[in-house]
Amino acid sequence: MGRKLLLENIEKPDINTIDGYLKYGGYRSLDKVLKGMSPDEVTEEVKTSGLRGRGGAGFSTGLKWTFIDKSTDKPRYLLCNADESEPGTFKDRLLMEKNPHLLIEGMILSSYALGCNTAYIYIRGEYMFILRILERAIQEAYAKGFLGKNIQSSGFNLDLYVHPGAGAYICGEETALIESLEGKRGNPRIKPPFPAVSGLWDCPTIVNNVESIAAVVPIIMMGGAEYAKIGIGRSTGTKLISASGNINNPGVYEIEMGVPVEEFIYSDEYCGGIKGGLDIKACVPGGSSVPILPKSLLFKESNGSPRLMTYESLSEGGFQTGSMLGSGGFIVYDEQQCIVRNTWNFARFYHHESCGQCSPCREGTGWMERVLHNIEYGHGKEEDIDLLWDIQRRIEGNTICPLGDAAAWPVAAAIRHFRHEFEYHVKYPHRVKDADHVYQPEMKYQTI
Ligand SMILES: Cc1cc2nc3c(=O)[nH]c(=O)nc-3n(C[C@H](O)[C@H](O)[C@H](O)COP(=O)(O)O)c2cc1C
Ligand code: SF4
Repeated sequence: MGRKLLLENIEKPDINTIDGYLKYGGYRSLDKVLKGMSPDEVTEEVKTSGLRGRGGAGFSTGLKWTFIDKSTDKPRYLLCNADESEPGTFKDRLLMEKNPHLLIEGMILSSYALGCNTAYIYIRGEYMFILRILERAIQEAYAKGFLGKNIQSSGFNLDLYVHPGAGAYICGEETALIESLEGKRGNPRIKPPFPAVSGLWDCPTIVNNVESIAAVVPIIMMGGAEYAKIGIGRSTGTKLISASGNINNPGVYEIEMGVPVEEFIYSDEYCGGIKGGLDIKACVPGGSSVPILPKSLLFKESNGSPRLMTYESLSEGGFQTGSMLGSGGFIVYDEQQCIVRNTWNFARFYHHESCGQCSPCREGTGWMERVLHNIEYGHGKEEDIDLLWDIQRRIEGNTICPLGDAAAWPVAAAIRHFRHEFEYHVKYPHRVKDADHVYQPEMKYQTI
């Protein structure tokens, strides 16, 4: 059994109330900080812990905090990114819904470290019921003197607000989130300047994911050095994984970084194997944006050692043979799933969610969707596969924000590893015209 730092008390029925949270040791990290740590010492602990952003990019949280511009008199802001719209990712929801005070305590600690007196939790519009849970918890925290003026007689002030989005995936991108919070359309900004220098209302701003901010609570409690002992190499601590697809036990798991992928899929402690006793075909390990990995590359790195649930191991070999840990949205596909259909489904999503500012993304995502639709529904031509490859290649790296890459990578990986399935669709259109078709295991249909 791995250590649980974020989900330890998640099943306690009263953990969502402040009395329950206090009963199980809540707000002790805050007490420790307010009684004897300077803001820089808190930042140093987070740096020492090796915590990397859990929103997807995996950038060092402590290092990011040091970038906040302290040379100006402008107010500084901390924004918690609770937009969680990446298909396959549903971990932040669990934390906020069941244990809202963990996030609130993390927000107070992080704001203290950054010198922020106002902080926001930007939550996706579809999580309106969680917004109410958070608001109630925030009121409780104000009532007990954990928020507001002169918190626990320390002289530190913090106001915390929850702000709902309106259901746009792009508002999870940090600069689009800032635009949206300012009351504008959620269009990403060109960087630089980075938010740490010029973010919300042109003030220094740090944006962090829910899980990153929640992790600050155990880091302060146990100390950064102790946290860094968990995991492997530069992948320290624990990580929440949202596991879904054709597995026996879908759900959110807290793993110690470094669990072998094979163990994560087949052990009863986690996914419990493939549903119906079928074989596994592929896995998207980090949310819909990251490359799909076929079974042949999923369990072993190119040097033969086991592939592990870490940033480094999952990306070993680059996109030729690897993928990414991303946000930990772990989607498993059994041998009967159609990769073309899945790729079309993702492409449809990215086309719908493109904000339209840059033409490679605006036009390319729609084009890819249409070509994939044709192939999936039996109207594809042999040259469409190369056309798709060409479109995704022209999107990648040529856009304002990474949504373009996020749309391109799944298409590239599907063609790279499953070209035979695309060719099959083109060659046998009558067999795939039924949109609900289920594939026979690969070996069977390849030999038809
Ligand atoms: C299109 C797009 C959507 C994103 N959605 C989210 C999201 O829902 N939640 C999140 O934390 N980060 C999301 N990100 C990443 C954020 O831009 C940012 O890197 C992150 O919130 C930083 O927090 P972290 O360092 O704690 O990971 C998204 C990025 C892109 C390009
Ligand atoms: S890449 Fe797409 S989503 Fe991002 S700014 Fe350009 S058009 Fe908008």
